[in-house]
Amino acid sequence: MSGSDGRVLDVENVRKRFGGVVALDGATLGVGDRSLVMLIGPNGSGKTTLINVVSGIYRLDDGRVRFNGTDITGWPPHKIYQSGVVRTFQIPALFTKLTVLENLLVAARSQVGENLSKAVLKKTWVEQEEELVEKAFNVLEILNLDGLWNTPVNALSGGQMKLVEIGRALMSDPRVILMDEPIAGINPRLAHEIFEHILGLRKELGISFLIVEHRLDIALQYVDHVYAMHRGRVIAEGKPKDVVNTPEVIESYLGG
Ligand SMILES: Nc1ncnc2c1ncn2[C@@H]1O[C@H](COP(=O)(O)OP(=O)(O)OP(=O)(O)O)[C@@H](O)[C@H]1O
Ligand SMILES: [Mg+2]
Repeated sequence: MSGSDGRVLDVENVRKRFGGVVALDGATLGVGDRSLVMLIGPNGSGKTTLINVVSGIYRLDDGRVRFNGTDITGWPPHKIYQSGVVRTFQIPALFTKLTVLENLLVAARSQVGENLSKAVLKKTWVEQEEELVEKAFNVLEILNLDGLWNTPVNALSGGQMKLVEIGRALMSDPRVILMDEPIAGINPRLAHEIFEHILGLRKELGISFLIVEHRLDIALQYVDHVYAMHRGRVIAEGKPKDVVNTPEVIESYLGG
């Protein structure tokens, strides 16, 4: 299921202002079905704001966001999440004293809570919990984290925490995952491993990704398409090598 042009996500001409700061100044981009799209740009160019606008955390001032052809502009975050567009955070938003499994269950329960009245009619609470645990173990297996299910998150490495964060996102059966710097601060070996997992999730589950990342040396080789932002606008797009060699893109980084 995707939009008529084979895109799962269309961001059209979005604008977002914070007081006098124009964070998004008419940014337009798209994510194709099962594609791995990267968003680059210097600090402050609007990348995180774009993710926040798409996931409904910020209300945009102008423009449209479409998911599978449906206009989701202005939808509240929980509705966007439930519809299949999920984000991960630059700093993993995990419950560090809880175990890996519990972190996945917490993510899923908040979602079940939304549909509680519906679910209660159909299934007992115990049945629901059993299903959630089974699902969580499936997700942990996909990410090779099943051996760590009972480990508190604060005992994990930074890279493993990033994987748990991805695991939480997977609990909602997403179609698109928006990732804000999934390999920031992660050693190269684990960073490559995270991207291998992302490729696997695309292949096995058909998930599409929009990934914000500064570590071009590692990330570029994995992605299909790159958008470069500068001052809230997309200034170049295309194949990874072409975009990073575009003079305007190089200048935008040099200019800070
Ligand atoms: N909540 C906010 N309130 C005020 N200004 C904000 C807010 N969020 C972002 N901005 C401003 O909007 C602009 C874009 O910020 P954004 O965080 O989207 O950049 P970014 O591309 O993600 O940068 P980085 O690569 O450093 O993470 C910046 O000038 C920033 O200071
Ligand atoms: Mg950012």
